Amino acid sequence: MKVDGIHRRTIWVDADGWSVGIIDQTALPFAFRTRRLTSLEEAAEAITSMAVRGAPLIGVTAAYGMALAMREDAGDRAVDAAHDRLLATRPTAVNLRWGLARLREVLSVTPPADRVRRAYAEAAAIAEEDVEVCRAIGRQGMALIRGLHQRNPHRPVNLLTHCNAGWLATVDWGTATAPIYMAHDAGIPVHVWVDETRPRSQGAFLTAWELGHHGVPHTVVADNTGGHLMQHGMVDLAVVGTDRVTARGDVANKIGTYLKALAAHDNGVPFWVALPSSTIDWLLEDGVHGIPIETRGDEEVTEITGRTADGRIERVRIVADGSPVANYGFDVTPARLVSGFITERGLCTANHEGLAGLFPDHAERS
Ligand code: MRU
Repeated sequence: MKVDGIHRRTIWVDADGWSVGIIDQTALPFAFRTRRLTSLEEAAEAITSMAVRGAPLIGVTAAYGMALAMREDAGDRAVDAAHDRLLATRPTAVNLRWGLARLREVLSVTPPADRVRRAYAEAAAIAEEDVEVCRAIGRQGMALIRGLHQRNPHRPVNLLTHCNAGWLATVDWGTATAPIYMAHDAGIPVHVWVDETRPRSQGAFLTAWELGHHGVPHTVVADNTGGHLMQHGMVDLAVVGTDRVTARGDVANKIGTYLKALAAHDNGVPFWVALPSSTIDWLLEDGVHGIPIETRGDEEVTEITGRTADGRIERVRIVADGSPVANYGFDVTPARLVSGFITERGLCTANHEGLAGLFPDHAERS
């Protein structure tokens, strides 16, 4: 997508042909900065610190992390060590495991002398596939938005989204945002309610920044607002991304997603989840009890980053001194609360039949 007129992706190989460029998402929305990753350790740190984040982008970064690792040591033990180091960076998004498994499989049948080249090629292939998959999700999801517009052509389609499942969370386009960008570009009037998404504020910091740069009308709301909006007919469609969908359709996504799904269910608002098939964990059925939920540092809850009136970026404490805090990064929305999935192969119901119907090849192998 474009930033100040320049087409950007979230990750690329630099002009030197080997170092990996990323947008440093910890600086947004106050500054647009890029960074160079030059080693396995730097790639792992970029994922852990959330300089790169979002399930698909984590998977692509890990793949490039394997390529950087092969430059340091292309032996068999190094392949396993790099795989394990990167897998340990974040627990919830299954795209990480998926991307790393793909690299390990390819490297296991490649002689060490050729592993650097092969790892970069596979990482690049994963990145290109991600762009095409998100583009396809966009086309599939735009049909939903178009349908809502045709039903009520005299006002914009009001969407609500949580966290950032935008192009910053993928290589380009995003998952939940791809249909929104395509609808907007096709002249369908849309307006997006953007949940702030505490504690890290991915909605206020990243989704709002993205939508603003693309000219998509939007309004940032505090996280607790969605229920009120839905009760008053102000949301036509809730659409979110996901970090892991189980074979029966349970959905892990940023903390607070479950509450939005409950409110949507209670108010008859369609609640759709956009995902690439790399986000499906075919090995797991019960998401509520089976998906590992990341817990992160207390400071994400006790502090917040902001820009002062004179332009300084500061972190300030917002919790009473001494109070213990808890920081769960994700929650799981049971499949029964999900209206359907938007995937690269089409729309489907949020259950085993729906997913296996679109992806019989994967479902059979598991
Ligand atoms: O902790 P984050 O910012 O990595 O969480 C991101 C999300 O929860 C996204 O909704 C999810 O990864 C889908 S991204 C297309």
